[in-house]
Amino acid sequence: DADGKVRALLARMTLEEKLGQLQQLPWSWDLNPGSGSTRDVEDAARAGRLGSVLSVFGAKTTNELQRIAVEESRLGIPLLFGLDVIHGFWTNFPIPLAQASSFDPRVARTDAETSAREARSNGVHWAFAPMMDVTREPRWGRVAEGSGEDPYLTSRFAAAKIEGYQGSGYADKRTLAACAKHFVAYGGAEGGRDYNTVDVSESRLRNLHLPPFKAAVEAGAATVMASFNTISGVPAHANAHTLTGILKKEWGFDGFVVSDYAGVRELIAHGFAEDGADAARLALNAGVDMEMTSTELRTHGRKLLRAGRIDRRRVDDAVRRVLRLKHALGLFDDPYVDEDKAIDGPTARSRAAARTAAARSMVLLKNDDGLLPLKRSVGSIAVVGPFGDSGDLLGTWAVPQSARRYPSVTVLDAVREAAPGAKVTYARGVGPRGRDVTGIGAAVAAAKAADVTVAVVGEPPAMSGEAASRSDISLPGAQEELITALAATGKPFVVVLVNGRPLTIGGWLGSAPAVLEAWHPGTEAGHAVADVLFGTVNPGGKLPVSFPRTVGQIPVHYNHESTGRPYTAGNAYTSTYLDLPPTPQFPFGFGLSYTTFELGAPKLSRGSVAARALGRGDTVEVSVPVRNTGPREGDEVVQLYVRDVAASITQPVRRLRGFRRVTLRPGDATTVRLPLGKDDLGFWSNETTGEFRLEKGTFELYVGTDSTAKAELTLTVT
Ligand code: IFM
Repeated sequence: DADGKVRALLARMTLEEKLGQLQQLPWSWDLNPGSGSTRDVEDAARAGRLGSVLSVFGAKTTNELQRIAVEESRLGIPLLFGLDVIHGFWTNFPIPLAQASSFDPRVARTDAETSAREARSNGVHWAFAPMMDVTREPRWGRVAEGSGEDPYLTSRFAAAKIEGYQGSGYADKRTLAACAKHFVAYGGAEGGRDYNTVDVSESRLRNLHLPPFKAAVEAGAATVMASFNTISGVPAHANAHTLTGILKKEWGFDGFVVSDYAGVRELIAHGFAEDGADAARLALNAGVDMEMTSTELRTHGRKLLRAGRIDRRRVDDAVRRVLRLKHALGLFDDPYVDEDKAIDGPTARSRAAARTAAARSMVLLKNDDGLLPLKRSVGSIAVVGPFGDSGDLLGTWAVPQSARRYPSVTVLDAVREAAPGAKVTYARGVGPRGRDVTGIGAAVAAAKAADVTVAVVGEPPAMSGEAASRSDISLPGAQEELITALAATGKPFVVVLVNGRPLTIGGWLGSAPAVLEAWHPGTEAGHAVADVLFGTVNPGGKLPVSFPRTVGQIPVHYNHESTGRPYTAGNAYTSTYLDLPPTPQFPFGFGLSYTTFELGAPKLSRGSVAARALGRGDTVEVSVPVRNTGPREGDEVVQLYVRDVAASITQPVRRLRGFRRVTLRPGDATTVRLPLGKDDLGFWSNETTGEFRLEKGTFELYVGTDSTAKAELTLTVT
């Protein structure tokens, strides 16, 4: 059996070979073994002092490197190849934040299945995804990589993505080992500044940041990546409480923990470790199993062991975890990939899947007088804006080669395809960032000459993602001026937003008749945008993050905790700003459609339930009829929120506890049923030992189509 094989192998390993398994070294994108600059990686593989390689792919390259490890090292232990496959490999799906907007976890699953097939055939075993950092910070660039501000929604997407990557067992050569990241609370970085400090109570840690990781572990995530931040003074890479106490002991996680990049060495800069040896000791003892890029454990491991500062059993435990995954992936039986079967680009099928996913992820924010959908019979269309003719809509973390070889379908091309009879013109107007406004005149002229204008504006993908925090989250450069000038023409226009975070759009929202949030839609961007603009797809996405009115309103999120003075109109002494309405620009869960829906009165299967019964796995059910009352087929997302009226720790004013996206033809109706169980009604206390409380009392339930849902039910837990 696998455990026996791992044990036998471990017994034959020298200390250097063991430490080697705990080391991951970086590769350089375009290099092949033998090219000189990768000698350190090859030498380490040959010496049996390397466990894994980062940022490497390609069937030939990985096979050559693998051959060195398997045929030239003493024990022939295969290497594990990891890559940031975040929302695609060759075929890029929309960014994860967009995927969460679909409120349909199957979107994430399809992305993961498609990416896994493409990446694995190119020698990759391990995706550094999904990212599941819950954040209320739109300034943080990495909001693009997660599922937004809600732990429940994030958990559902995290689990779906892991199931998609890992399938029913990752020995299948179409699957990848997943990596739940970043553990933990990285999304709480102060001020949204990347890598910044996080000071968080145990209850907030457990109720907000940890649930997606728990869901990931339950879904069988093979690995977990530590995060760059501190957690209440202790860096995540040296945090024994979270890594060992919660992850490994409380949850029984038996995969391995990889550091994030030089996160082990960075313990020195954190002011937590004295030197490299100290950093290695702290990280290993806290629960990090594999060191990415920095080499502190490899360098100092022997000395630390001799001095009794690290323990041999802990080293063996870490090595065992790594070897177990290599076994599970089937690498000991067949370490190579078939070079003739490497997928070398998007296929018609993968493109179709990415197009569906992107269109399903778009959110219609505004549609005055039914301007959208556009008629295909329209005589003339002007496409304007810096992203109208751009192939750079893949989003952050697209594999660089995929961006070069397979740029996005442009909106301009797709509009031409969708309305072949229309005269379609293009004028950029302004650039994505600069202050040059000289092109606005041409864009205005194009708009005046056209029946309708599509303005594609937003952020370049490089403005979101890692190390891309912004203090001002309005449209960059002079793009707002472009919109103002379009509005002044009095002609109809649609704003298509392509961005990796919520933006502050209040400055021009009032002047734009229609706004479609398309996020960074991926390889099939243009097609998906055109599908929605012309009504082939009726938009059904909902915001997974609140859109603030101004940066000064941050943090603004629907699931904030109750205060003693909730906002009350007309009473100044309540929690709000003098100069802003109390609500965000757009709330969590919001999104329009080209049709209309009516929700009937929700019902509860019973008005009271015993806590003991819930503890045994019993549930109560909320059911709500929903009908398409408009003229077209469309999707609605029915959402269920819960409020614990009085609890031993102040609770969020509401928490999402269930949702379902349904598709209905005009006039059709269905009943959505959403169960509520113990996990949905209880919460984690402040105890560091992990105490989940289900307290008796009254719960208010809200059912609706966004987080302001009004329909109310009452449940009593006895
Ligand atoms: O996976 C990433 C992580 O999210 C951020 N730092 C680098 C890692 C590897 O590229």
